Amino acid sequence: MKTTELTLQSCALALLLLSLQFVNGDVSYSFPEEMRRGSLIGNIAKDLGLETSSLFARKARIDTEGSDTRYCDLNLSNGDLTVVQRIDREGLCGDKASCVLKQELMLENPLELHRISLHVQDINDNSPQFNNDLIHIDISESAVKGARFPIEEGHDADVGKYSVQTYNLQSNDNFILGVGSNSVELVLNKELDREQLKEINLVLTALDGGSHQRSGTVVIHVTVLDANDNVPVFSQTVYKASLPENSPLGAVVLTVSATDADEGLNGDIIYDFGHISEDIKSMFAIDHKTGDIQLMTTVDFETASSFELRVTAKDGLGITSYAKVIIDVTDVNDNAPVIYLKSLANPIPENVSPGTEVGI
Ligand SMILES: *[C@@H]1O[C@H](CO)[C@@H](O)[C@H](O)[C@H]1NC(C)=O
Repeated sequence: MKTTELTLQSCALALLLLSLQFVNGDVSYSFPEEMRRGSLIGNIAKDLGLETSSLFARKARIDTEGSDTRYCDLNLSNGDLTVVQRIDREGLCGDKASCVLKQELMLENPLELHRISLHVQDINDNSPQFNNDLIHIDISESAVKGARFPIEEGHDADVGKYSVQTYNLQSNDNFILGVGSNSVELVLNKELDREQLKEINLVLTALDGGSHQRSGTVVIHVTVLDANDNVPVFSQTVYKASLPENSPLGAVVLTVSATDADEGLNGDIIYDFGHISEDIKSMFAIDHKTGDIQLMTTVDFETASSFELRVTAKDGLGITSYAKVIIDVTDVNDNAPVIYLKSLANPIPENVSPGTEVGI
């Protein structure tokens, strides 16, 4: 019995597929997604001109084309088509602009097939979202005004006017928002200076176009990268020191010092001698890290009373500053007096008068 019925149904189906003249009028309904279960979509009997009384007798039923899922139900006593389960447009159609559920109304005796198109309208049931809560961007402080930095767009599962329509960037000193057709960008409006501001947090809001507008936010964390734009600066352009002659070897004559506003490697300073004459090169040494200038040989005021050196301060990326060091050697009483006797006339007569010059 069952087999017979199935065979009959199969035959009927085959017949249907072969003879589309059985397809009568189509009908379409448009209604918002997420309607409550039992909500009325429309009255199919009225819209197709069918007798409500015949629905039961003709075994009227609703099928979903190519699927077992039932979205709507037909009341056989009055022809009302109602929602049987949640219809989520985003779940069914993703970001497609239109979302149509194809249903069929089947009637027997005689066989009749009516296509029913259910146009599911989007409601603003989703808020714009960003992939992450936080976006990190590194921007060099040497970036010029007008430089653009793309930000990943916000997304809204809704379509059309309920999708993301506008963006709003928290007001700040450096950036404005650039929105293209397919991109959101931070546009540098005022150049960055790491020495003033190392990090900037900006809240970007994506807004959809619903009358009850929904929004989503992301925090953009901008790290301002050091562009090594600061030269080392010596504390003095000319350093002066006095060095007592015969100072012990290794004595620190003076310490030069430079600072660099840049950070890390860029701000690490290496001291060295600049151009110094060959003959005094061996006399002094400079500590590359501390800037201490040490005496390496003995100095003799009587040989040279002053030295002039050039020192350099170089930061991690090779930006160099220069300063001058003048070392004055001070005399110390390191020599015993020596008498040189000249023009001594010999011998001196015994009667020489007092006061006579006898020698220089
Ligand atoms: C079908 O319609 C009849 C008549 O309007 C009503 O009494 C009945 O409750 C409906 N059935 C369902 C399942 O909604």
